[in-house]
Amino acid sequence: MQKMWSGRFTEAASSLLDEFNASIMFDRELYREDIEGSLAHATMLQEQGILTQEELGSITKGLAQVKEEIESGVFVWELSDEDLHMAIEKRLTAIIGEAGKKLHTARSRNDQVAVDFRRYVLRKNKEIMELTHDLIRALHTIAQDHSDTLIPGMTHLQHAQPVNFAFHMLAYGAMFKRDYERFEDSFRRNNVSPLGCAALAGTPHNINRHSTAEKLGFDSVSTNCLDTVSDRDFALEILFNISMSMMHISRLAEEMVMWSSYEFKFITFSDAYSTGSSIMPQKKNPDVAELLRGKSGRTFGNLMGLLTVMKGLPLAYNKDTQEDKEGVFDSVKTIEISLNILKEAMLTMNVHKENMESACKVGHLSATDLADYLVQYCDIPFREAHFITGKAVAKSEELGIDLSDIPFAELKAIDARIKENVMPFLSIKHSMNARTSEGGTAAVRTMEQLSHLNTWLEANQK
Ligand code: ARG
Repeated sequence: MQKMWSGRFTEAASSLLDEFNASIMFDRELYREDIEGSLAHATMLQEQGILTQEELGSITKGLAQVKEEIESGVFVWELSDEDLHMAIEKRLTAIIGEAGKKLHTARSRNDQVAVDFRRYVLRKNKEIMELTHDLIRALHTIAQDHSDTLIPGMTHLQHAQPVNFAFHMLAYGAMFKRDYERFEDSFRRNNVSPLGCAALAGTPHNINRHSTAEKLGFDSVSTNCLDTVSDRDFALEILFNISMSMMHISRLAEEMVMWSSYEFKFITFSDAYSTGSSIMPQKKNPDVAELLRGKSGRTFGNLMGLLTVMKGLPLAYNKDTQEDKEGVFDSVKTIEISLNILKEAMLTMNVHKENMESACKVGHLSATDLADYLVQYCDIPFREAHFITGKAVAKSEELGIDLSDIPFAELKAIDARIKENVMPFLSIKHSMNARTSEGGTAAVRTMEQLSHLNTWLEANQK
């Protein structure tokens, strides 16, 4: 079969070349963007007197039929057509005849693929923002119920200081909010139309780039065509934004894997989001959380893959960039399902408040409070206070109790300067509520963070 570009060729393409060169197996994902881009382009050509009203009419009708054929599954995708751009143009011409052959006036596949892929990425940017918003809303909902639930705050995965569970959820809320803003920022920067750049240098036809930009929802037109047809920064940005967000998802997932173990027993996943073992009948496994953690890997790989594709490319378009799509499709699909299932698994999990609280009675979580008390109420320098507290911790270990339960007499015996008013400072809840500095875990500060996040969620509601 004759290729659209075969005018100068005398031999037919090998089938091996067809297979190697084609993107049609995967770029059909962009059919909506391609048809919309063609419609905007044809309309602009008519506005500029390059196409007649009749020609535009038949192109519009023909493209509607092509779309219909694709969506109903009757469209024939042939490897020999190379990519979706040529497959659609070929079918259009078969349906409407001569006018179809004029559609590609003042356009190249280089700006065509740039506009299609950019609009796909921008659309997915918005979808991911909405899913991220939903996840933050879910974290906020869980946090609302737990501003008074104590959980051991950790450093080095060792018990450190008590915090409340809402504060812990809000930490993830803060991460996902940054992710949301990163997608938003990328959207703003990249909402620029490539259409009209043609192959690399612009076109001698009297086109109006602003008209197509406006029709396609872009804020403006790109400033340099050579850059535009080879720029894939927008794709790299979404790959990076997805990777960053998947890294956050993975951290939360890791905590959920731990929390659902017998050792922690802080949460139980609902049956709907748990799996069993093929051999051990008693098991209930956190596969969802593990996969969330694991799937971050492929998104990092997709980012590295495209960075590597791009790094050695001279200006302008090179066929290498055809490798930009599959990784993005994969990362988008991965994060969309991940955000969704994480939200569902969290909203349906059981939070075992009592176990979180009893874990706070292990590891002498109020030790820093005792040291702070010695500084504030007994005028003891911090280094010395740290040492005295160490003695009190050792005494508690010897007695087989937590520091929060040590009798006053034992403290007095360690250092006579310690007064009876020390006792409330040893309580775990007191310790949590004492951290009232801005951004701290004290219930008052947590409520403040909850309310700020709620204001943000409402302001960014779709
Ligand atoms: N299938 C190509 C891609 O995805 C479309 C652009 C082809 N342009 C060209 N000059 N060969 O990048």
